[in-house]
Amino acid sequence: MLTVAVLISGTGSNLRALLDAAADPAYPARIVVVGADREADGLEHAEAFGIPTFTVPYEAYPSREEWGRELDAQLRAWNPDLVVLSGLMRLLPASVVAAWSPRIVNTHPAYLPEFPGAHGVRDALTAGVTLTGASVIVVDDGVDSGPILAQERVSVLPGDDEHTLHDRIKPVERRLLIDVVRRVATGDLDLAATSVPRIR
Ligand code: GRF
Repeated sequence: MLTVAVLISGTGSNLRALLDAAADPAYPARIVVVGADREADGLEHAEAFGIPTFTVPYEAYPSREEWGRELDAQLRAWNPDLVVLSGLMRLLPASVVAAWSPRIVNTHPAYLPEFPGAHGVRDALTAGVTLTGASVIVVDDGVDSGPILAQERVSVLPGDDEHTLHDRIKPVERRLLIDVVRRVATGDLDLAATSVPRIR
């Protein structure tokens, strides 16, 4: 059984979908802890499932590095096989990425490498594209630049705003994430083999 820690910042609707999937005894992964960088609304989903939570408030630390050290310590205490960033709106310090990569994945509401960064949905709209998408990647030390594990196209419809488009992308993100975690758990997806170290 693959053990998973999930990190969030927001409403945690993707977390909720993963919790629902993992509640099926046939699903080969279990969420052991949910962490957040603030008092995120989404922590309620973990509590509803009786799953422990922790918060490492970003603002409470003098630097990203120190925040990351505490986050890493919390994760290590749970010793998960996999860390899932599900809407964590913070860049992890390189030390944390180095400690967990490639056993750390992120979901992104665009078809990477198109529109990386915190505003993937908005940037797709601004660019005027008719197709965007959703991706699940391994976290590396860049911004949404790690190896792509799964992705799927989503159409931009006339009249879409950031909200309507994001609402159509999220169900795709959820499906891809649930499938990636399943494939990691069954061994169909070998994260170590997927991650080719970058040549510096
Ligand atoms: C997802 O689209 C995620 O990729 C993005 O923020 C959203 C998280 O939504 N970075 P939620 O908190 O799971 O509802």
